[in-house]
Amino acid sequence: ALVSMRQLLDHAAELSYGLPAFNVNNMEQVKAIMDAARATRSPVILQGSAGARKYAGEAFLRHLIAAAVEAYPEIPVVMHQDHGASPAVCMGAIKSGFSSVMMDGSLKEDGKTPADYDYNAAVTAKVVELAHAVGVSVEGELGCLGSLETGKGEAEDGHGAEGALDHDKLLTDPEEAAQFVKATQCDALAIAIGTSHGAYKFTRKPTGDILAIDRVKAIHQRIPTTHLVMHGSSSVPQELLEEIRTYGGDIPETYGVPVEEIQEGIRYGVRKVNIDTDIRLAMTAGMRRVGAKNKSEFDPRKFLAAAMEEAKKVCINRFEAFGAAGKA
Ligand code: G3H
Ligand code: 13P
Ligand code: NA
Ligand code: ZN
Repeated sequence: ALVSMRQLLDHAAELSYGLPAFNVNNMEQVKAIMDAARATRSPVILQGSAGARKYAGEAFLRHLIAAAVEAYPEIPVVMHQDHGASPAVCMGAIKSGFSSVMMDGSLKEDGKTPADYDYNAAVTAKVVELAHAVGVSVEGELGCLGSLETGKGEAEDGHGAEGALDHDKLLTDPEEAAQFVKATQCDALAIAIGTSHGAYKFTRKPTGDILAIDRVKAIHQRIPTTHLVMHGSSSVPQELLEEIRTYGGDIPETYGVPVEEIQEGIRYGVRKVNIDTDIRLAMTAGMRRVGAKNKSEFDPRKFLAAAMEEAKKVCINRFEAFGAAGKA
């Protein structure tokens, strides 16, 4: 059944687990995630980014998720719009049937320029007011996703008059978070702790100086009842990088967010964990393996079946590691 984000996150908080939120762009990703959810009896958050809407189109995305709800009737599913750039984008998603939206007011409408607190609070509060009137949940974001290694926010170069942004500018401030949640009444809050989107998050296995899990604790202490969201939370498994390289790919050395660090976050209020890149890597590994091992293969289903199998394994692992297994 289609459920609201709030229902799932409240349940996750009550039982102290976390939910992976997987990005979807096509049928194979939806099926792999749903098969993993069925195998582990986990509730599911499927989310579509602006990039997904551009790739598949709004109608396909919506109907793919509706198909998942129909084909897996025992699994609660949230249809979530990821990184909405404006109230208008969020309203469009709500109208088309999404049960949850993210209003990302940490950036201006261009999706690139960092926005100030007042703009962010105003657009987020507006979306919350409209969304709550029709039972839709809202995720807000406060802080600037980006690297503590380079001091660069991911959406801009991070260079002001004094050079790279310092740690405190890249991380979400607990006091400001409290103010933001009170002002907007958002259902979940995405925070910045040194992660960024994509495969190239860290040049080494992250330690506390570049991945600020302690900041999760500080924010949770200040707003213990707020559901926290970690973006950029792919773990970038080294085995998948190896597999891709073995079968002809060329991905340079890079590191993601270790599953143990996410588990630590979940102990301190993280309830939604956004994952896109790991599924991309898994599918690429599967497709490259088939292509490399069977050069005469030309049925796309053979490539995509292997892609789904690899993606399903990653999803099962995250449902289990975050404690969502058995909670559907
Ligand atoms: O928000 C980031 C997600 O990984 C979506 O990426 O814009 O390439 O679909 P995308
Ligand atoms: P990854 O690129 O780490 O998978 O993050 C995805 C994300 O945060 C989507 O909003
Ligand atoms: Na999101
Ligand atoms: Zn994100």
